[in-house]
Amino acid sequence: MKIAREINDIREIVVGFKHENQTIALVPTMGNLHLGHLTLVKEAQKHADKVVVSIFVNPMQFDRAEDLKTYPRTLENDLKLLEEANVDAVFTPTPEVMYPQGLGLQTYVEVPDLANSLEGALRPGHFRGVATVVCKLFNIVQPDYACFGLKDYQQVALIKEFVKDLNIQTKIVEVPIVRHEDGLAYSSRNNLLNQAERSIAPRLHAELMKLGELIKQAPTAEIPNIIDATINAIDLKGFKTDDLTIVDADTLSPEISHSRRVVILISAYLGKIRLIDNLVVERC
Ligand code: PAF
Repeated sequence: MKIAREINDIREIVVGFKHENQTIALVPTMGNLHLGHLTLVKEAQKHADKVVVSIFVNPMQFDRAEDLKTYPRTLENDLKLLEEANVDAVFTPTPEVMYPQGLGLQTYVEVPDLANSLEGALRPGHFRGVATVVCKLFNIVQPDYACFGLKDYQQVALIKEFVKDLNIQTKIVEVPIVRHEDGLAYSSRNNLLNQAERSIAPRLHAELMKLGELIKQAPTAEIPNIIDATINAIDLKGFKTDDLTIVDADTLSPEISHSRRVVILISAYLGKIRLIDNLVVERC
């Protein structure tokens, strides 16, 4: 497995792959790898001859300085897992490599509407940071495919949008959420939960499933009351719900009276840790 810390080095590696007529899939990550990421790697290996994983804790997408400071960094273990998973190359730049002029002077990618609605409204600047770094990674690695997990549902929609708008040729591969046996979606943030919080955390998914069943058949007019009742139920379990919204699964519009497929997007605090999850529901 080749490891590159500089942009020129990863470019040289990629040029080598392309000279051998190999296709390339990129798996962008912020490290602290878990089964969710390794599933993305497996999916990437199905699509392309060579898999490149990037590990970069992107300061531009953190809306809270505290989150950036405490984000788990486990590079040595990450590299071991990627070696075992037969990844071909890893790109691990520093913030200085990615943003040599600092964040203030960096050109950025702004995706209208999607970047500032839903999760974007709660985390100002977050999606601008995601779109900018992913666009830079696409320009650096020039992948044929890039794999993203659907746990970050709005992130995937936003990336598909700017890829289309900016005529980027990389194909976006969407990978279903990977869950622990108890239903909790894999996330690097789970490592920050204490033991008591970790035992409560799966209840978020349980409530999401119950809500999914209810809204399959419910008339649209009843949905706001059902949402309120679910927020109460979630908060009684020990969470503090940050947002619970149901939107069209394709457009992410809150107008769902004619939507067959909707997605429930939820974010909730457990202590200081903000968990997110989602569920796509086909309505009858
Ligand atoms: O989903 C993530 O881990 C990050 O948002 C991403 C896509 C690697 C960009 O920093």
